[in-house]
Amino acid sequence: MHTHASLPDTLYLRIADAMARQIRTGTLSRGERIPSVRNLAHQHGVSQSTVVQAYRTLEDARLIEARPRSGYFVAARPPQLPEPDTSRPPKRSVSVGISAMASKMMSVAHHPDYVSFGAACPDAALFAQDRVRRAVSRATQRHRATLCQYPFGPGDESLRKAIARHALRMGCHVNADDVIVTSSCLESITLCLRSVTKPGDVVALESPTYYGFLEILESLGLRALEIPTHPRTGLSLDALQLALDTQPVKAILAVPTLSNPLGCSMPLAERKRLAQMVARHQVPLIEDVLYNDLCEDDDRRRAVQSFDTGGQVMLCGSFSKTIAPGLRLGWIAAPGRTERLQRMKSATSGSETVMLQRALADLLTQPGIEAGYRQLRGVVAARMDEARALISRHFPKGTRMTSPSGGFILWLELPGEVDTVELFHTCLEEHICIAPGSLFSTNDRFKRCMRLGLGGKWGEAERRALARVGKLAAELMATSP
Ligand SMILES: Cc1ncc(COP(=O)(O)O)c(C=O)c1O
Repeated sequence: MHTHASLPDTLYLRIADAMARQIRTGTLSRGERIPSVRNLAHQHGVSQSTVVQAYRTLEDARLIEARPRSGYFVAARPPQLPEPDTSRPPKRSVSVGISAMASKMMSVAHHPDYVSFGAACPDAALFAQDRVRRAVSRATQRHRATLCQYPFGPGDESLRKAIARHALRMGCHVNADDVIVTSSCLESITLCLRSVTKPGDVVALESPTYYGFLEILESLGLRALEIPTHPRTGLSLDALQLALDTQPVKAILAVPTLSNPLGCSMPLAERKRLAQMVARHQVPLIEDVLYNDLCEDDDRRRAVQSFDTGGQVMLCGSFSKTIAPGLRLGWIAAPGRTERLQRMKSATSGSETVMLQRALADLLTQPGIEAGYRQLRGVVAARMDEARALISRHFPKGTRMTSPSGGFILWLELPGEVDTVELFHTCLEEHICIAPGSLFSTNDRFKRCMRLGLGGKWGEAERRALARVGKLAAELMATSP
């Protein structure tokens, strides 16, 4: 557990985080000299060793560099490729039929014999594993009696309170009574969709979108209406407005922060506008906030639900990407809708294991939780910079690539008429896994695209494999018509 004795850890991370943000937003220019250790220590009223630790963190993240006898400077910007254009999906909704490709890709993505860029999850080594283990063993000792009792109701109260506090960090004022504990974010989304739709209804969502969403729509017999999405700023609200005006949209499913696979995050003003739009049209919005804590930008961590005035926004989340995917716990916060959702949840899968809920509540209320998110963001950001530089160097000329403000997913668009399903199979022969673009849509508009998940293992083998994917892509292009 993080004790108060370790609080200085938080301090150096806080200083590093503030400076990282200044660099990424351009407030501090690339190549610019940053304050000396002594000056910054004086400025913040902290010890010089705290600043040294902060600067080491920034050096590890390749955001700053020390020049002998000259001091510290903001590092040169990694090479940038242009980003893909806003997507242009068809204007009609379609019934969803997903191929078996996603499950094949996922089975390989988690196979230890493959270098994997297939999964969208941090490697176990990036989580605070000891902390998670200690919380689980504490809960096992204290609450073992609960294992032989049926869990009942919307979830453990201590966890629901912790989740309500977690939602407050996204600007949302919800009570523990508004929260339902589920088995995962995907279960949360499924329940929310079931609560507001019936088979044949139309659901609007980002384009490209997470294939897990398409699988849910297919299983519920819902039609997908893909909405044009900008690779940096997310859902086009003008296009969504048109869809709401002209089509029988029964629900909107969106990931406003670090959407999967584009990594786009909606600006604050757009979040507000989206909340107003769903209130005006009385259309429920299912907001997936799974990635919010991985976003570097405070404004973009704020949930659309924080602007909701009409009770239309249902928040869905879990801690699979930030604390521990193996706990298998998710949540819904939907004021005014909990009774119906709770009835559906108990008819589907009952309640979750109390012991694990207590362990998660314990983890969420520890003082180091915020520092943990910050540390994860820092490590992942450094890796993304490195991966982007490798891609710029090794992928075919004309490749486009996203530049998300956090997270570990990159979306690439190859130039020319290539099919990344073919690239996927070629890569598999070399024991490398990528996620082909076609998985992320109801049609094959994204067949020249691919998603690369860079949260997994990261070392020489992965760097070589990434360069190799670029080479294989170039070879495929050379043989394509
Ligand atoms: C946008 C999004 N939502 C939900 C999930 C699944 O979350 P969970 O593990 O809690 O079911 C994922 C997993 O990649 C995702 O990308």
